[in-house]
Amino acid sequence: MSIDLGKLEVTFCGHATFAIKTPGGKHVIVDPFLSGNPACPDHLKQPKSLDAIFLTHGHGDHLGDTVALAKKFDATCATIIELGAWLSKQGVKNVVGFNKGGSTDVAGVHLTMTHAVHSSGVQDGDGMWYGGEAAGFIMRFENGVKIYHAGDTCVFSDMKLIGEIYKPDIAMLPIGDFYTMGPDEGAYAIRLLGVKTIIPMHYATFPALTGTPAKLRELTKDVAGLEIVEVKPGETLTGQMRRLAPV
Ligand code: NI
Ligand code: MN
Repeated sequence: MSIDLGKLEVTFCGHATFAIKTPGGKHVIVDPFLSGNPACPDHLKQPKSLDAIFLTHGHGDHLGDTVALAKKFDATCATIIELGAWLSKQGVKNVVGFNKGGSTDVAGVHLTMTHAVHSSGVQDGDGMWYGGEAAGFIMRFENGVKIYHAGDTCVFSDMKLIGEIYKPDIAMLPIGDFYTMGPDEGAYAIRLLGVKTIIPMHYATFPALTGTPAKLRELTKDVAGLEIVEVKPGETLTGQMRRLAPV
């Protein structure tokens, strides 16, 4: 395995949710869909500490526990500006509302917002709040490791630019189909990005999400050096992509 995460710890909480311990010891969650997430192991549903939340868009299966967790831990929420406005309206104090192509430093992570092709409304009572556009993130950690979390998206040709500009070491890609791309488009995304280490996400959580890592593997078997790392909910990756057993 070629990627060395060093002290970085990446725990898959199921669906598109990742709990990350940075090399600097900060705790970050991308899309904290925890309490309502049928794929999330119980022991991960109540984080013990949290410094920051990176939120790709406003759909319930990503927004999840953002408001409650941000208030409980006084965590910083980094997201697109319109969704940030909604979070502020809910009483979240530390909101970093930025936009695509922009970067900011949060919890020691150099965070860049990328494009994603998807929608982003926030269910707010009986209505829907305009959540801006759905996004993805490039996270560059203190030890130089770069991870691309694509958010919810279909394949788009600018993934080639994301690959060329940011050269991520790892790409977390949705492959479940129905709400996002499935394995067919995912295989194309892998070719556009040129990233060799892929963590599939956003599959199997609900019956509609039928795409599988096996199908993605079959469709990319001609891609030299590609490694599709299937992480089970509760598993943590660290060091040389070593798996720490679920706690
Ligand atoms: Ni969505
Ligand atoms: Mn989703």
